[in-house]
Amino acid sequence: TQSVEDVTATLKKFGLETIPEAPNTYPALNPVDIFRSHITDLLASVSGIDPKIIYPALQWTQTLDKGDLTLPVPALRVKGKKPIELAAELAEKFPSSPLIEPPVVKDAYLQFFFKPAPLTSIVIPSILKDGASYGFNPAFGLRDPSNPSLGRKKVIVEFSSPNIAKPFHAGHLRSTIIGGFLANLYEGAGWDVTRMNYLGDWGKQYGVLAVGFDKFGSEEELVKNPIGHLYDVYVKISAISRDEADAIKAKKEEIAALQAKNESVEQLESELKKLESGAVDEQARQYFKRMVDGDAEALGVWKRFRDLSIEKYKATYARLNISYDDYSGESQVKDESMEAAARIMAEKGVSEDSEGAVIVDLTKYSKKLGKAIVKKKDGTSLYLTRDIGAAFERFEKYHFDKMIYVVASQQDLHLAQLFKIEEAMGRKDIAERCQHINFGMVLGMSTRKGTAKFLDDILRDVGEKMHEVMRANQAKYEQVEDPEKTADTLGISAVMVQDMKGKRINNYTFDMDRMTSFEGDTGPYLQYAHARLCSIARKSSIPSDLLLSADLTLLREPHAVDLVRQLAAWPDVFLNTVKTQEPTTVLTYLFRMVHALSSSYDHLQVVGSEKELGKARMALYSAARQVLWNGMRLLGLSPVERM
Ligand code: ARG
Repeated sequence: TQSVEDVTATLKKFGLETIPEAPNTYPALNPVDIFRSHITDLLASVSGIDPKIIYPALQWTQTLDKGDLTLPVPALRVKGKKPIELAAELAEKFPSSPLIEPPVVKDAYLQFFFKPAPLTSIVIPSILKDGASYGFNPAFGLRDPSNPSLGRKKVIVEFSSPNIAKPFHAGHLRSTIIGGFLANLYEGAGWDVTRMNYLGDWGKQYGVLAVGFDKFGSEEELVKNPIGHLYDVYVKISAISRDEADAIKAKKEEIAALQAKNESVEQLESELKKLESGAVDEQARQYFKRMVDGDAEALGVWKRFRDLSIEKYKATYARLNISYDDYSGESQVKDESMEAAARIMAEKGVSEDSEGAVIVDLTKYSKKLGKAIVKKKDGTSLYLTRDIGAAFERFEKYHFDKMIYVVASQQDLHLAQLFKIEEAMGRKDIAERCQHINFGMVLGMSTRKGTAKFLDDILRDVGEKMHEVMRANQAKYEQVEDPEKTADTLGISAVMVQDMKGKRINNYTFDMDRMTSFEGDTGPYLQYAHARLCSIARKSSIPSDLLLSADLTLLREPHAVDLVRQLAAWPDVFLNTVKTQEPTTVLTYLFRMVHALSSSYDHLQVVGSEKELGKARMALYSAARQVLWNGMRLLGLSPVERM
């Protein structure tokens, strides 16, 4: 990787003796830090303004024509002078610098443009040397940046969390994609990350499932396709259960009608009893009771369903570059944890009895939070109860600094209730560390076969569509080695990019045609850009270690300089993403960078250029490929080398 000495040596060439280094900055990791510190030094020396005010006032720009950094002069908080006048005065006084062009005054803003030669000489080697780590900063996750021996902060990212034997719906898809990204983000920021899947794997419906398996299950099918088979079983047995419920209801009505006429109902009563006791619902209740009571056989069956499902899930998640450290689930929450929580809630007056059930009245904190049931009349736990127990267990086990729940905004109330209850129980220490990362809905998610229930179905359908799109260009298609696999990867990218393109909270429409297009801001478009850079590298056949000795001062064309300026911004984009926790922050940047790239090819040819110039350009493309790769990996995509 790039060292401080490397940077110092480069800066010396441009006449700077020491690295400008404001406190808590990372000149070896982030080239822009050097420029920010340098501007701060110069401005402080001519104006007397506190560097601590100047440094954070320097902002990124939306477009390169506004400079690389810009300073809104009012942010300097200088009294008694009009900002516009002060801007002009500061620009006037600004000394000439080996790194920065003279500032441009635009209203009350100063615009700073980095000088191309030093920028290029710092940025490109930095990218080539740091490789897959360029842009990331493991110091962010330190407990105390000034004392690394205190270790790293711990975060749990809980995401995906589907329900066994039920469809994997759009909410789970988004949670999986966004959660995978967040886990990568924290990892890139140096946190100690635990990826957790909290399966919906408990409740009476598992009794229903077991009863159903007895009737309709097939060992062979179960092993072959556990998720699909269990779902089919569940659908069949649920239908029977529904019919039975209807029959019971009808029988009760009959009884009521006879009673109204004062006629004997004995016969019907006994028929009703028979119906009820033989019903799936009752069998399921008894089965689940056995599970709750720890009956080994019942638990064994259920555990098998769970294990086989997890095994299948793992394979599917792997296609999205996701693997979990912890497959937890509602079933794993210990009774003791829930009982302990119940005791605290009762003692602290957080909970109260209500007609045999236990509730928490949260309206005293906020009307919106309503009243929540934490124990049913029959004494059993609920979704919320299990989440309370789980949070305490996780805190005990991991001592997390932060825990993120990646769950659809439909569950905003549920998580707000959870966090408020923790707080009311006197555990603000836990509540404060918890964060709900929510997201909007996917509209119109029907795939081509209209049968998408599981993640695999979705990915298969999009992969097939992508295969079709690829085939449209026969000549190119024939050059792809493994078109099936490539189509699959491109399809996955299409789905993921569409999902992460907008702000998380926005709804979006699942649009197969748009997401699989090579044009517009799509996954395949990013993939195409990556493959093209790989192709340029193959054709140039310059060994990559030679690129480090390229004469980068040859990169003077506006297209080359603008591309370098984009690449320089990546570490700041990462930093900003840590703040926004929005995948769109990364994607917006990548699309902007790739647009700059696309418009460069004609102007910056490698093959056919003079040798040294070709080498310098190849170094630039190689750096661009690296940044694109780093961004795509952060999002969870698998960049392809050919397509
Ligand atoms: N299994 C739940 C569902 O499908 C999501 C679980 C979210 N996480 C949690 N800790 N409640 O709705």
